Amino acid sequence: MDGNGRWATRRFLPRVAGHKVGVDALRGCVRHCGDVGVKVLTVFAFSSENWSRPADEVSGLMELLALALSREVPQLKAEGVRIHFVGDRAALPPKVRKGLDAAEAATACNDRLVLNICFNYGGRWDIVQAASRLAAAGRPITEQTLAAAMSLSHVPDPDLVIRTGGERRISNFLLWQSAYAEFYFSDKLWPEFDKIELNAAIDDFNRRERRFGLTSGQLASRDPARRAA
Ligand code: FPP
Repeated sequence: MDGNGRWATRRFLPRVAGHKVGVDALRGCVRHCGDVGVKVLTVFAFSSENWSRPADEVSGLMELLALALSREVPQLKAEGVRIHFVGDRAALPPKVRKGLDAAEAATACNDRLVLNICFNYGGRWDIVQAASRLAAAGRPITEQTLAAAMSLSHVPDPDLVIRTGGERRISNFLLWQSAYAEFYFSDKLWPEFDKIELNAAIDDFNRRERRFGLTSGQLASRDPARRAA
């Protein structure tokens, strides 16, 4: 969800004001995902590296998360959204940790849309924590055991990864899980990323040929519908 800071700065507002509008954009995208049948949405809200931002922005993001949860969870619950937090919780302020636990508990019975909120998350952190847990348990490290120990093992790998804000890099997001994802880069700043933009990303995704290491010919011979086309 990149571009909140620039959105605010261009309007002579503090960066945190951009994050606040970012929550509105997120609400719209969550709702639209539910409406169009997306089953899992994973968003990057605070990276392991974001601690190095100015102190007022870091504390602003912590407060915003706590506030957004208290305001949004009842409606998300009513809309069938199940919330999961992904990341290292130990370093978060107790008030924030309590909010995360409460949001997860309140929505635990929902299954219309899983919303994973990556907070104090990094793709490298996730690989290291998974490998460390396996090593501590004396278990072998294989592709299967590592995948099962990762923090997103409760959902399938992503089909589509969208980055807003005009950057063309992955910035430590879903490093393991995005091995076969399709990438979509939008020049829109996150506060401007609405359902029209999301539809454009989904339409673009639907035009891609996903080969998973195979050839187009192999895919066609497996799928009679593609052969006919
Ligand atoms: C990156 O854009 C965005 C963030 C570090 C924060 C994302 C947070 C939200 C959308 C709102 C909070 C989320 C929850 C779940 C409460 P940037 O600020 O780095 O943008 P810039 O590149 O323009 O500076």
